[in-house]
Amino acid sequence: MSELLSVTDLSVSYGKIEAVTGVALVVQPGSVVSIVGPNGAGKSSLLNAVMGSVPSKGAVSLLGNRIEDWPIEDRVEHGLCLVPERRELFSNLSVADNLDLGAFRYRQSKDAETSRTRDWLLTLFPRLKERLAQKAGTLSGGEQQMLALSRALMARPKVLLLDEPSLGLAPLIVREIFKVIVSLREHGMSVLVVEQNARIALQSSDYCYVMEGGRFALQGPAGELAEDPRVVATYLGASKVNQGDK
Ligand SMILES: Nc1ncnc2c1ncn2[C@@H]1O[C@H](COP(=O)(O)OP(=O)(O)OP(=O)(O)O)[C@@H](O)[C@H]1O
Ligand SMILES: [Mg+2]
Repeated sequence: MSELLSVTDLSVSYGKIEAVTGVALVVQPGSVVSIVGPNGAGKSSLLNAVMGSVPSKGAVSLLGNRIEDWPIEDRVEHGLCLVPERRELFSNLSVADNLDLGAFRYRQSKDAETSRTRDWLLTLFPRLKERLAQKAGTLSGGEQQMLALSRALMARPKVLLLDEPSLGLAPLIVREIFKVIVSLREHGMSVLVVEQNARIALQSSDYCYVMEGGRFALQGPAGELAEDPRVVATYLGASKVNQGDK
């Protein structure tokens, strides 16, 4: 089986409310996969279930291992990492300390690879390099997202799970962040990204799932979905075109 991550018949319920209903998805090695859909569609619930931070029913496989019963730490150790919707940085700690803590989750010692990863991330995000001593809580929204992404990458995940990386950010910063997300493929990582900005998601991913009411309503190669009249009408309206292309 060449699939890196696969999810089969996954459901998430909160009491009587079923947020995700029998969803199946696949992430191939070296790919960016996106999930788009409106508020309340169940996107975060799905991502959190894959990470193990909310209970779910169904199967989740990572590199051929069934992981749905594993605790979060074991999933991290085997290559999953989530950047949640609320970036959850340590706001009283410096940028540098936040980065170190990202690596600490993965490996206790500061080995050579960790420092290479750190250097690479600071090249990707020079703004962070200029602000290593600054407290994370005083960074701008865009810089905080860069730090959250970088902290997750310090753990060198095989699959990075991203929940709305564009949330609250200006179009230029969104572009900068997605450029980095796309480039992760060249570093042997895959990405599963949840996004409300369908335009940037479709432009940046290989495959896309459209989630509505807890189920996948449509799916396909991102280039094809971007041409689908239903997707164009519902998710790629005129205002979004301008927003995404700035
Ligand atoms: N902890 C919770 N307890 C009860 N209901 C929840 C909980 N988390 C989510 N829900 C409900 O599950 C449904 C799906 O929510 P979810 O956050 O997964 O959607 P989403 O697609 O990520 O939406 P958004 O785009 O607004 O982030 C919603 O109806 C929400 O109210
Ligand atoms: Mg959400």
